[in-house]
Amino acid sequence: MTAPTRARVYRGTARNLAFLARKLQQGHLVAVPSETVYGLAANALDPKACRRIFAAKGRPASDPLIVHIHSLAQLAQVAVPNKAALKLARAFWPGPLTLILPKRDVVPSEVTAGLSSVAVRMPSHPLFRQLLERSALPLAAPSANPFSYVSPTTAQHVAEGLSHRILYILDGGPATIGLESTILDLRHPDRPSILRPGAITRAALQRKLGHPVLARTGKSASTAKPQVAPGLLKRHYSPKAQVILHRQLSLSKALASSSKEAWLFLKRPSPTVPQNIHWLHLRGDLQFVAHRLFAKLRELDAAGFTRIHVELARGPGLADAINDRLVRAAAK
Ligand code: TXA
Ligand code: MG
Repeated sequence: MTAPTRARVYRGTARNLAFLARKLQQGHLVAVPSETVYGLAANALDPKACRRIFAAKGRPASDPLIVHIHSLAQLAQVAVPNKAALKLARAFWPGPLTLILPKRDVVPSEVTAGLSSVAVRMPSHPLFRQLLERSALPLAAPSANPFSYVSPTTAQHVAEGLSHRILYILDGGPATIGLESTILDLRHPDRPSILRPGAITRAALQRKLGHPVLARTGKSASTAKPQVAPGLLKRHYSPKAQVILHRQLSLSKALASSSKEAWLFLKRPSPTVPQNIHWLHLRGDLQFVAHRLFAKLRELDAAGFTRIHVELARGPGLADAINDRLVRAAAK
């Protein structure tokens, strides 16, 4: 019997980055920080390394991975970019936007789950960028959580979920955005379609492209045809506790409820509250709400609440992305 492995957390020193880049070149998995959520990275051109990602996460092979790149030259290595893709890349990369494009042959079918398209993103987190540059590899990376659990936004979250399944975690601090990237299907550039909302909003994409962008989000994403977006499963990002959605939470109802039920407000409902009442940001600023949402769901799960009542976000901007994750967390 071999002893169980235990992940080590590395700070982003030059020495550690050189070490971890070598590990990636040798086919090992490295959990990496990004501005959206932490990813579990492997050499995207090595089918064996990519299969290790699926094994570590317990992820079905039918759920394709995002390929992370460092330069536009690398984009052309893994995908066939069109004009719209280059326009959006120049506007939003590095950043939280993933583009679905026709793939090149060098990308193994393990990465794309046999699809003829590939998901590509250029992340902005400086440590992730340094690893991409030092390894000189495109890196396939899904979120670094056991399949279908809430995505990790800190190195600690990664360790909690995958510590016995991986060896290397690079700590880059808490993810600034806190929600996974916007995924835009650009296979047909005249009919771009959002497969997963994120911090780059539909309005921002439309403004840049100068024409309408379809949104296949929320309920409709869950019924998406598997061959289009196999990973966009309905139940995803779920804590163990049952999540119950509300248009608006009422403080009096929350105060009258059992202490086993948690109530998660967008903004602070009152200066003094019992321990089962929580909020995401003092004034409900959606940027902070997004930043803290996944960590809060984990915290409430760990505290042993059986049910979490959550308030949906309102308004433009990040509300779509936040509500998309809440709807998935609540799906049974
Ligand atoms: O922000 C993010 O996107 C993070 C960080 C690490 O970059 N990654 C992430 O990966 O959220 P993951 O695997 O948890 O979600 C990727 C989604 C999956 O739902 C998958 O189905 C979809 O991207 N996807 C990947 N390739 C695709 C393709 N060729 N066509 C359609 N959907 C694809
Ligand atoms: Mg994920």
